[in-house]
Amino acid sequence: MSPAAKQTRIRTAVFPVAGLGTRFLPATKTVPKEMLPIIDKPLIQYAVDEAVEAGCDTLVFITNRYKHAVADYFDKAYELEQKLERAGKFEQLDLIRNVLPPNVRAVFVTQAEALGLGHAVLCAKAIVGDQPFAVLLPDDLIWNKGGTGALKQMADAAEATGASMIAVQDVPREQTSSYGIVATESFESRQGRISGIVEKPEPDVAPSTLAVVGRYVLSPRIFDLLESTKPGAGGEIQLTDAIAGLLKQEPVNAYRFKGTRFDCGTHIGLIEATIRYALDHEKLSDVAMRLMQNALDELGVKDIH
Ligand code: G1P
Repeated sequence: MSPAAKQTRIRTAVFPVAGLGTRFLPATKTVPKEMLPIIDKPLIQYAVDEAVEAGCDTLVFITNRYKHAVADYFDKAYELEQKLERAGKFEQLDLIRNVLPPNVRAVFVTQAEALGLGHAVLCAKAIVGDQPFAVLLPDDLIWNKGGTGALKQMADAAEATGASMIAVQDVPREQTSSYGIVATESFESRQGRISGIVEKPEPDVAPSTLAVVGRYVLSPRIFDLLESTKPGAGGEIQLTDAIAGLLKQEPVNAYRFKGTRFDCGTHIGLIEATIRYALDHEKLSDVAMRLMQNALDELGVKDIH
């Protein structure tokens, strides 16, 4: 392809979903953590909706051999559709038919060994090809009520600048060892060029408190770098380490997205997201508020602080 024809708008989104989800055992013994719901939608659906909104029409799921539930979820459910149709339950029928819009295709790639996030992304190389693409970690649920989703914000910025984009947010210094942490040049509006990135540094050596959140728009050059990335933090092939190589070759920007991020890879994040979505739900908010008040009253809680 000639350089002039090179695409700058992302079309492909990669969802690494091969993790074991041990934090949510015993539920995750049979239910992949990406299938845990916030109210009635699994986490993976929120991430997929965000990618589709950003303009992606090819969704690549990096799974493992135990995670049939994710593929089943995006497959057609003939029997269920027939039953709902016969029962005249058209609203529910729409819900299960529209997990993916008709122009969007889902591709499943098995990651044979759990070698880390960087390795999972590398598994998508043959499908992504030589085009910029997105990575979404469904654990990170980003809520921007009524506004543009985080990935679309980033894809628009990437298209305008030609730079790779990494979503970031400030975290308390004692939490740096849970995240990729970036060092940046000064920010203009929501973007700042990244000058360094390190995976899970201890607070005393972290270059900043600006943490990577699970949304990335990446140049395809990342694949060459991933191929030669050695195991890093936790003995895993880290996406962060390949990004550290990328930013020596091309501009990579940190992007402070608009929205609230819930870390649904933790119990607290999942509870927080559930409460927030319930309180904001068009049919459930009143009753959710009442139930919460009742629960607090019953427990004799007067002042939470
Ligand atoms: C991954 C990334 C890390 C990033 C985090 C965001 O870590 O490796 O850089 O900050 O996601 O959720 P994990 O949470 O998979 O350990």
